Amino acid sequence: MKLLMATSTVLLNNLWGCRGSLSLAVAEKLQYILVLGSNIEPEQNLRFATKKLKSNKINVITETAVLLTAPESYFKQATFLNQALLIESNLKPLELLKVTQGVEQMIGRKKRNRNEAREIDIDIVWYSGGSFESSKLQIPHRFNRARYWVRQFIAELKHDQIDTVTRIKLEKFNHMAVKTAFDFIKKKKVEEKITMVTCYDHATAKILAETSVDAILVGDSLGSAFQGNSSTMSVQLDDIIYHTKWVKGALPDKFVIADLPFKTYQLGKAQALEAAGVLVQKTGCDAVKLEGTYLEEIEAIIKMGIPVMGHLGLTPQSMLALGGHRVQSKSEESRKKLLEDALSLQASGVFSIVLEVIPRQVAAEVSKKLKVPTIGIGAGNDVDGQVLVINDLLGLDPNFTPKFLRRYADLHQVINEAVENYCLDVREKSYPNEKESYNL
Ligand code: KIV
Repeated sequence: MKLLMATSTVLLNNLWGCRGSLSLAVAEKLQYILVLGSNIEPEQNLRFATKKLKSNKINVITETAVLLTAPESYFKQATFLNQALLIESNLKPLELLKVTQGVEQMIGRKKRNRNEAREIDIDIVWYSGGSFESSKLQIPHRFNRARYWVRQFIAELKHDQIDTVTRIKLEKFNHMAVKTAFDFIKKKKVEEKITMVTCYDHATAKILAETSVDAILVGDSLGSAFQGNSSTMSVQLDDIIYHTKWVKGALPDKFVIADLPFKTYQLGKAQALEAAGVLVQKTGCDAVKLEGTYLEEIEAIIKMGIPVMGHLGLTPQSMLALGGHRVQSKSEESRKKLLEDALSLQASGVFSIVLEVIPRQVAAEVSKKLKVPTIGIGAGNDVDGQVLVINDLLGLDPNFTPKFLRRYADLHQVINEAVENYCLDVREKSYPNEKESYNL
């Protein structure tokens, strides 16, 4: 059995072997993609499942290579093997479900909670009939968007398929996962954009765990986004520790960077080492970020074994000196200085640099000259990745409207409506109803 790491994109030969040669009778058949998964005797169980499906008159057109995937669980358990099959069958979705459940039973699948170990799991993730909805089965499978390897499988087997929610081709979702600081640099090398968002709490982090976002920043922006302050300067190291603990706890497999807040590294190497060390020790974060060109401090933290992300341009911890939230590096002199600073940060060993609120041409020039990737916020598109504050991306504050911001949701409206509807139902005495109440 050929094994591949889940991060690699596998292109299969003969993907379209049957295309154009279907007879009328065959064309009436349905095609499905099944995703098999197991982490209990996985090689044997995957092989056995495919054999049993075939003996149930299911025509397996293509078998993908087998991928190793990490379990979606906080509890220690073995790595999964996953494989997808493109099949053809006369069976309707619920009939096929019966067959797949029969095979699962035959293999001895025990009833366990979601995210626990599995003898075998056979999910119907896609079918040529489009979408199917019943109380027992939903196609496309509701976790397709969360499981990048499923999207990868579908894109391999049916490269034209689009995601039902975003209407974007599934293959566009495929990306190299970031596991270490070195992966940032690898991504720049292969010109794959890096995606990063901030996060401050466990509930949101659990949702982010299901997405393909590359990295999470527990930023000192929590001063304004979470604590309601006008700047980040009041944020304490203990605040960052508190929030990072909950965030990293929900994201054991994501790369989490924690900000060193104001006055936790500017007083010298010893202070910076202490702050970065405590932050990593107490939260399990994967890297720290700090603003400006504190080169000796950065070098010392890296020497201690902690990767560092730099931050230039509009650096909110210097807001008083900068005179407010305004575009930086516009003059010839300040552009030169920014480039020099970026190069010196690179020389000191940072794995990446945030460039905040600077002209896109300046960000483009800096990005071109650096080997380490730049992550822009308000720095245009010619950078190596983007970061947004999660509250802004989700539209929590309708009054925060900087030019660079694109809102991907209007949670302000969603929350407002939901709470008003709830209040209305309570006042009208329609909530809770009979079904929502316990009986003696
Ligand atoms: O604190 C933060 O969220 C940040 C990002 C805006 C880059 O530094």
